[in-house]
Order: sequence, then C-alpha cells, then structure tokens
Amino acid sequence: TDEARQRRFDAMIAADERIEPRDWMPDAYRRTLIRQIAQHAHSEIIGMQPEGNWITRAPSLRRKAVLIAKVQDEAGHGLYLYSAAETLGVGRDELLDLLHQGRQRYSSIFNYPTVTWADVGAIGWLVDGAAITNQVPLCRCSYGPYARAMVRICKEESFHQRQGFDILYSLARGTDGQRRMAQESVDRWYWPSLMMFGPPDSESTHSERSMAWNIKRFSNDELRQRFVDMIVPQAEALGLTLPDPALEWNAERGHYDFGTPDWDEFMQVLKGNGPCNRQRLEHRKAAHEEGAWVREAARAHAAKSRARQRA
Ligand code: 3HC
Repeated sequence: TDEARQRRFDAMIAADERIEPRDWMPDAYRRTLIRQIAQHAHSEIIGMQPEGNWITRAPSLRRKAVLIAKVQDEAGHGLYLYSAAETLGVGRDELLDLLHQGRQRYSSIFNYPTVTWADVGAIGWLVDGAAITNQVPLCRCSYGPYARAMVRICKEESFHQRQGFDILYSLARGTDGQRRMAQESVDRWYWPSLMMFGPPDSESTHSERSMAWNIKRFSNDELRQRFVDMIVPQAEALGLTLPDPALEWNAERGHYDFGTPDWDEFMQVLKGNGPCNRQRLEHRKAAHEEGAWVREAARAHAAKSRARQRA
C-alpha cells in the first residue's frame, strides 16, 4: 500500500540512505528534484553564453584554451544533470522546451553581462566559487543520480575557480588600467554572486521540505555566509576590495558580517527583467534551432545502426 511505501521512504530518509530511481518516492519529492536538477542543468547551459562571449577575444592563446576547456566543461555538466533528471522520468527535450517557454528557471547570475575580460576572472573566482560552495553539500543529496553527478562536477569546478582567481591575480598585478578593470569587475559581480544562494531563509519556499528530504543540507543563508567567509581572505590575497562597507569580522559569531543584497533586484531578475534575460533566452532558442540538423542526423544514424544490427 502507499502508506507502507511512504513509511519505507521516510525510514530511508531518516537513516540518511540514498534514494535510487527504482525506489518508490512521493510525487512532491520527485517534482522538487526535477525542478532543481532542471534549473541546475539549464544554468550550466545558459552559463556558457557570458563566458563564451570572450573566447574570441581572450588576451593570449593559453587564456583562450583554458576558457574553451571551461565552457566545454559547463556543457558537460549540463548533460550529466539532464541525464540525472531523465532518471526521474523527464527527458532533456521536454526540459529544454520548458526553459525556452520561460516555464523553468536558470540561475539568476547568468543574466548579467560580461563587459570586460576581467569578468571571466570574476566569474571563475566568484560564480564558480559560489557554485562549489553550493554543490559540495549536494554530493550528499539523498537522490543518488544527482549526488553522483555532483561529485564529478565538483572536481571540474575547482579548476574553474582557480583559473578565474589566476586571471584576477595577474590583472591586479598588471598595469593600473588592468588593476582598475579587475576591481571594477569584482564590484559588479560581488552582490549577484551572493544572490546565487537563493533568497533569505525567511523567504525560501522550498528549504524546509528540501532539508527534511536531505536534498538541501544547509540553508541558503548558511551557504551564503560560508561563501563570504571564504572570499574575504581571497580578496585580500588578490589585493582587491569587495564592494560591501558592512563587511567586518565578528569575533563573537566567528564569521564575517556583511551587507544585504538588493532582493528587489533579485526578484526582478527572476521575473525576467534582469540585464540579459531576453538576450540569453533568444540566443539559447536560436542555438537550439540551428542545432536541429545535428539531432536529426544523430537520430538517422542511430536508426541506421539499429537496422544494420538487426540485419
Ligand atoms: N536563480 C534563479 N532562481 C532561484 C535562485 C537563483 N539563484 N535561487 C532561488 N531561486 C528560485 C527557486 O527556484 C524558487 O523558485 P520557485 O518558487 O519558482 O520554485 C524560489 O527562487 C525560492 O527559492 P528557494 O530557496 O525556495 O529554492 P531552492 O530550495 O530550490 O533553493 C537553490 C535555491 C539554493 C539555488 C537550489 O535550487 C539549489 O541548490 N540548486 C542547485 C544549484 C544550482 O542551481 N546552481 C546553479 C549555479 S550556476 C552553476 O552551477 C554553473 C556553474 O558551473 C558556474
């Protein structure tokens, strides 16, 4: 009966066991995982746009090669995550349709423009740094396929963060113009990267159930605090400042106090009114249409191979 299966599911969660695709799970558990994994996958795919914007203009062959490798990694992260979502019974084509129709989200952070080369550094250091802070606990998520995808993704993310830090480190020690460019970029990316962790816990609609199901291991505010505690000393090592006058070590708390992100701006970006929302979705839909022939060719090739095997 459903009651017996619900009890068994609850016991597995209470014992902090992994839920696998073949296990019975409440519809609401399945639905919130599809929402979060799809949003995560869409973020990786859309995230290629701001970064890819600088591949043709990277300042050296080495920086170009590293950036190409990073953007290629993001595509792969998206595919691991669409595959994890497929184990919940929803196909990539369906999720992409929902994204293109604006009915599924991607991370707010990718609705901001990359206006200088230093942004590639700030994205690596701050955005991938925030992604790692969020993704490491997800390696222990109760849903097996998602947790395993995270293990692989986290390994590659640390390279992304290091290459970003390295770019800012070089610029901050370069000419005055390069140093100003690095500082101006950090000024633009600091607050949006804090918003990546989601709204304040008091406004979080999914946290309570997500945490009860061992999907979310730490609250939005806990991970945001962990991220700030990590980047303050790193900013000092870079010789760059963070644009937050409230930043101050709080010995009692053992953490840095920091300012409040502009949550109205966050809500506007989620509503589709961020600086680049329209451009990101149009570019994505155009890429999908231009890529239709590849999908057709792959299907035709697969059908031919199957027919040959049967012959
Ligand atoms: N961008 C867009 N939407 C966001 C968001 C963000 N940064 N943060 C929260 N939201 C949305 C939620 O989807 C939810 O929307 P809904 O009400 O329409 O369902 C609403 O805001 C309320 O937020 P909650 O805190 O209740 O939502 P969650 O419990 O899902 O927590 C989260 C938000 C912490 C982002 C969680 O979804 C999560 O951990 N997701 C996986 C991580 C992820 O998506 N990372 C993308 C970062 S970019 C990236 O990974 C690429 C890297 O390689 C650079």
